[in-house]
Amino acid sequence: MLVHLLYASRAGAAIDPGTIESILRASRTRNPALGITGVLCHAGDVFMQLLEGGRAPVNELYNAIVRDPRHREVMLLHYREVSERSFGGWTMGQVRLDRINPSLLLKYSETPKFDPFSAPGEASMALLCELVATAQVVGRAG
Ligand SMILES: Cc1cc2nc3c(=O)[nH]c(=O)nc-3n(C[C@H](O)[C@H](O)[C@H](O)COP(=O)(O)O)c2cc1C
Repeated sequence: MLVHLLYASRAGAAIDPGTIESILRASRTRNPALGITGVLCHAGDVFMQLLEGGRAPVNELYNAIVRDPRHREVMLLHYREVSERSFGGWTMGQVRLDRINPSLLLKYSETPKFDPFSAPGEASMALLCELVATAQVVGRAG
């Protein structure tokens, strides 16, 4: 059984490239053995990550991520069983949401500012699917 789990969190200060690099390195090392794929988005001090895979490994990883001191205010945005993967090409893809066209953010929210804490989870999922469809996710599976 496959599930999608989407959450948002805050880093406390602007996220620096070193932090992203170390998170992505851990993800790309560990996620393949767990059968987990997904996307990590960030803008300013906000993370939004979609984890996709078996129910048990996704929940286990989510619990580890919630305890990670590099972020706080972890908020579950969306969780559901799915029949197929949407992000199977990425052990953990990356999107800098402060670099994408504001009109894409506007398509799914009231303002062009990225705020997953107030947006409906379904809207954030739709945004992620559009980022995949328009090839804006970087870091293919190795
Ligand atoms: C925003 C964020 C996303 C993360 N995503 C992943 C991930 O996809 N896979 C992973 O193995 N670790 C990820 N981590 C790192 C984990 O929180 C944790 O440090 C890592 O799994 C090692 O856990 P351990 O020290 O309990 O063994 C992420 C951390 C943060 C802050």
